[in-house]
Amino acid sequence: MCGIVGYVGSEAALPVLMAGLTSLTYRGYDSAGVAVLDGSTLQVVKCAGKVADLAARLADSPLSGSTGIGHTRWATHGEPSDVNAHPHIDTRGDFAVVHNGIFENSSDLRERLRAQGCLIRSQTDTELFAHLVSLHYRGDFEAAVKAALAEVKGSFALVVASRFHPSTLIAAKLDTPPLVIGIGAGEMFVSSDISSLMRFTKRVVILEDGEMAVLTPKNVLVDLFRAEPVVGRRRPANERVLSVDWPADIAERGGYPHFMLKEIEEQPRAIRDTLRDRLLEDGRVAIEDFTLAPATVRRARRVIFLSCGTAYHAGLVGQYLFEPILNLPVQVEIASEFRYRQPVIGLDDLVVAISQSGETADTVSAVRRVQERGATVVAITNVIGSTLSRVADHVLFTRAGPEIAVASTKAFTAQLVAVHLLLRYLAQYRPHQHEKLLYQLGLGLRQLDGVVEQVLQRTATIQAFAAQLASHEDVYFIGRNLDEPIAREGSLKLKEISYIHSEAYPAGELKHGTLALLSPGTAVIALATQSDIYEKMVSNIQEVLARKAWVTALVPEDESELEAMGVGTLRVPRVNDLLAPVPNVVTLQLLAYHCGVARGCEIDQPRNLAKSVTVE
Ligand code: AGP
Repeated sequence: MCGIVGYVGSEAALPVLMAGLTSLTYRGYDSAGVAVLDGSTLQVVKCAGKVADLAARLADSPLSGSTGIGHTRWATHGEPSDVNAHPHIDTRGDFAVVHNGIFENSSDLRERLRAQGCLIRSQTDTELFAHLVSLHYRGDFEAAVKAALAEVKGSFALVVASRFHPSTLIAAKLDTPPLVIGIGAGEMFVSSDISSLMRFTKRVVILEDGEMAVLTPKNVLVDLFRAEPVVGRRRPANERVLSVDWPADIAERGGYPHFMLKEIEEQPRAIRDTLRDRLLEDGRVAIEDFTLAPATVRRARRVIFLSCGTAYHAGLVGQYLFEPILNLPVQVEIASEFRYRQPVIGLDDLVVAISQSGETADTVSAVRRVQERGATVVAITNVIGSTLSRVADHVLFTRAGPEIAVASTKAFTAQLVAVHLLLRYLAQYRPHQHEKLLYQLGLGLRQLDGVVEQVLQRTATIQAFAAQLASHEDVYFIGRNLDEPIAREGSLKLKEISYIHSEAYPAGELKHGTLALLSPGTAVIALATQSDIYEKMVSNIQEVLARKAWVTALVPEDESELEAMGVGTLRVPRVNDLLAPVPNVVTLQLLAYHCGVARGCEIDQPRNLAKSVTVE
């Protein structure tokens, strides 16, 4: 996903832009660039490659000036190249623009602008916006940008600079890509995400859908350029100044070799923070600002989990928890498929949309589809001010803190905790016979951070196993019941981080075809932590052993039967079966991480992937 940064103030803009771009690199990108205004001179330096490559180009001729914009690009239109890197300028170089998202009508615009004599240099849709502003400019910068905004369609966030207005930046946002204004003393900042502003200011305004902001060193004016918001509800900007208490180095690695390892080890705190002040002594839950009415809960006739990727696996865990306790049918849907079906949705549907970033386009679009049909939507998300948090009817924030590594870890375990909190909230307003179980789960949730600490202490054992697994090119994960979603998540982590081909299967499903792929030495990781189907898992493991596969079982620390069969084991602390997904997944996260390190892979920004998929 592209990254945007902008500065207008009295200090040199370039160091601010480069620091901002560096903190945005986690989002995945293939090129970078800056434009700095020195009076009425617009200077642009950009290149394919990394921010370090851009810095090398700037080392010989650092740009002076106190207004500027910067960008890290994740290619959507046109291959990664110097000419396709942002910022883009108009024919005469009077305006520069950086952009995240897509202009869906770029083909028509390109033809029209060419016919009007514009010199179009790149393959990008972004460049067209600079030409539009230039064509509309008659001395009023804001009016020219507003007129250009009226001509583009799509989902975007952008910032424009002009050599005619060297102390002004104009930012605008429509639909999902986020844009955040940082409010300083005599200086203003703009960025794609809050964490990159923390080194400069703690006061931010999240730009809402359909809004544009005019930034000068002493002021920021927010206005509408779109009468009807595409997403979310709008509130006056001055009511939206947030003071964010994240430490300035929040986006730093803090001495860890990779963000992913840092975030794996932050999970005890993420669990504690997500539970904090929400799980009451008497077992009830109290979720701040959570407005889901008891009547809506009682009226619900179905729960639908909607999400993508790792968040989808959290929904699968939710299904196993919700159905027996709430006695409600539960569906779990992959948003990119669901949104193109003709689902039968009604007023009695309670939709739970899970998204770490809150910006995944497929999830947000699927949410809008179900809202159009009358469903009530609860969001579980990690990012304050994210699109999903504003589109949904009710929001339960995880408190995992910014997750920088592309591979989701602490956000996932925080999602699992949030699913448990939501379960308890719903159970407070629906008849059930599970008070005792919920009470036990409450005790278990409070101890979960300590359980994860125990898993983290077993890193050396996991690392030793990873050293063996790293030489394999095919790995199969199998499990049943609540082990099955975690088998999927373990497989996804391994693929993302070590590029080893992996598949996850319901253990009972192997004999229906995939068993044909197992040959002597094939690596199989069998999750066997669910007591009520443990014997079934033992049978499945025997099926696999009969094909002479190399099987390792993920089992509770007190398990002995499989070990007696000569099966290698990875041991996890024994907890209530309904909480086992948490220690199990932390074990598999560490396994994937150490496999990736052993194979020399790029851990935090795996090839071809982005931290948040805001394109469809
Ligand atoms: C997880 O490791 C992946 N990076 C990816 O599957 C991710 O979970 C998915 O893109 C959904 O992202 P979201 O939670 O921000 O919506």
